[in-house]
Amino acid sequence: MSPQDAGHETLSNLLHEERQFDPPTDLAASANVTRATYEQAAADFEGFWAEQAKRLSWGTEPTQTLDWSGAPFAKWYADGTLNAAYNALDRHVEAGNGDRVAFFFEGEPGDTREITYAQLTDEVRQAANALLELGVKTGDRVAIYLPMIPEAVVAMLACARIGAPHTVVFGGFSADALASRITDCGVEVVITADGGYRRGSPAALKPAVDEALKSCPDVRNVLVIRRTGQETAMTEGRDLWWHEYVGKQSTEHTPETFPAEHPLYIMYTSGSTGKPKGILHTTGGYLVGTAYTHWASFDLKPETDVFWTAADIGWVTGHSYLVYAPLVNGATSIMYEGTPDTPHKGRWWEIIEKYRVTILYCAPTAIRTFMKWGSDIPDGFDLSSLRVLGSVGEPINPEAYVWYRHFIGGDETPVIDTWWQTETGMHMIAPMPGVTAGKPGAAMTPVPGVAVEVVDMDGNPVGNGEGGYLVVTKPWPAMLRTIWGDDQRYVDTYWSRYDGMYFAGDGAKKDEDGDIWLLGRVDDVMNVSGHRMSTTEIESALVSHPKVAEAAVVGAADETTGQAIVAFVILRADAGDGGPDVVKELRDHVAKEISPIAKPRQIMVVEELPKTRSGKIMRRLLRDIAENRELGDVTTLTDSSVMNLIKENLAGQP
Ligand code: WT7
Repeated sequence: MSPQDAGHETLSNLLHEERQFDPPTDLAASANVTRATYEQAAADFEGFWAEQAKRLSWGTEPTQTLDWSGAPFAKWYADGTLNAAYNALDRHVEAGNGDRVAFFFEGEPGDTREITYAQLTDEVRQAANALLELGVKTGDRVAIYLPMIPEAVVAMLACARIGAPHTVVFGGFSADALASRITDCGVEVVITADGGYRRGSPAALKPAVDEALKSCPDVRNVLVIRRTGQETAMTEGRDLWWHEYVGKQSTEHTPETFPAEHPLYIMYTSGSTGKPKGILHTTGGYLVGTAYTHWASFDLKPETDVFWTAADIGWVTGHSYLVYAPLVNGATSIMYEGTPDTPHKGRWWEIIEKYRVTILYCAPTAIRTFMKWGSDIPDGFDLSSLRVLGSVGEPINPEAYVWYRHFIGGDETPVIDTWWQTETGMHMIAPMPGVTAGKPGAAMTPVPGVAVEVVDMDGNPVGNGEGGYLVVTKPWPAMLRTIWGDDQRYVDTYWSRYDGMYFAGDGAKKDEDGDIWLLGRVDDVMNVSGHRMSTTEIESALVSHPKVAEAAVVGAADETTGQAIVAFVILRADAGDGGPDVVKELRDHVAKEISPIAKPRQIMVVEELPKTRSGKIMRRLLRDIAENRELGDVTTLTDSSVMNLIKENLAGQP
């Protein structure tokens, strides 16, 4: 897909968008980032990042900043040593801030917990001791499959503390998805819970682990947190209750320091092929990059702000801006377990009013949902504590931006649209709240210290007013180091398209002022409610069903979710017409194979699929159909009558 294609709808909107909002005067007057920050970063790139490393407490201070001699395999702060959990916890306690709240936890059913830095430190030490007793050694991988509960943070930091990289698998993923991740990175210990609360009722998690482990013989232990208290089968000799096993451990544990490049975690994300990529993040650079951007993009004042990332811990947003950066920065955060409409549609605003939240960070899809529910809902709450609003996960359309700023931000708060990826680990393009006059819909300019460009097919920078492909032109501290177990795929995916530049996979445009607008993916990756999904992965799930011969999946524009999954399937001859419930059967099958979030919005049963002469499915044409558009150019099709056939076929379907 060309970036012009990807941004088709967006672009025409953008051309009419001329509003611009200056930073609030008082915020600008005491802002963390000023124009001078941009100048410093531009004048001395490495010096700037050496300076940022002082945000951390090192065992051995690094004398090197960037080692790019093995490009594209980067080393940051390579001769430094540190412990991630010590940086997130102990040092704040040692500095006398042990009583500061790290998390205000709101469970979906209404239970709450206030967890101070001192308490969290103790819990993490106990969990670290438990993992050590289970034989987890430095470098061993641990899988975490949990709802949004404080123990998820404890589990992550306990792993980090002993140098065991964690891989958190989103609790909404299926047993199969969990099993493939466990196998890919060779996990031997899993941390899970009996269940979590979702839309007012307990939803079991542990059965999915039991199912997954049938195909993962190397997993020796499962630690099970009791959250819902529901009936849970425990396998003798393998499964242990967290409250018993972790609860009995000592709260003493001296953290060891590890080299800056020691692996911190692996996070799986969808690529343009069926197999998810294990994105590897390491310790020093990742913590510097996330702590710095958290402080910069949100103008964070840790002593007074109450920060809320409304994202699940199972995604990179949860890792970087709910766990690591806020804790390293000594901030106070909200953690909310459930959905925004349980038990009522004002739940988020109630939480903001209750805790006097000052910074909210969420996804445009949530904002569009709130718009649909109506502004009278947030109007019923006192949201005056808010001073900065963040957005992440997909382009924020101007309407949503303006609604967010007006109804949630009282027309005063800057809206900070942050462009980044699982791979980048940290914000890359974002307005700075005290400096940038924001434009609704634009991510604006690279964060100070980050170098991005929009280039054409040949890798030449485009001019103002032109569109192209987004690239990163200099390494950055929180960048992925590789794809777990597949260095070649790392090189091929990100560094082969253009010489010496990181290919992000997004289309972008520079406006007349040179500000950047993101236009969506240019590969076979969809973005549904800010979740990244591969068309191929869903196609594979569909063809694994005995009734399906062939499948093609496209992302179609959707008012609420940004994109929606639309599938075209050809049934096997022996499946007949598949029966009246075939669509439901296939949707449920995808949910089971991948996750309920991967369920296609629509499945269309067709006789044929449009293909190029080389046999490639022409998704662009299917997207036209899915979005009810006039068909684009069909001249490269093997048989252009296929499209008419599909259209005629579909005319008879709902
Ligand atoms: C893809 C990365 C970043 C954490 C959550 C998603 C899209 C992300 C924006 C934004 C436009 C955005 C891009 C990117 N994306 N943020 N502010 N404006 N697009 O992480 O799952 O790794 O997905 O999400 O297409 O490549 P992810």
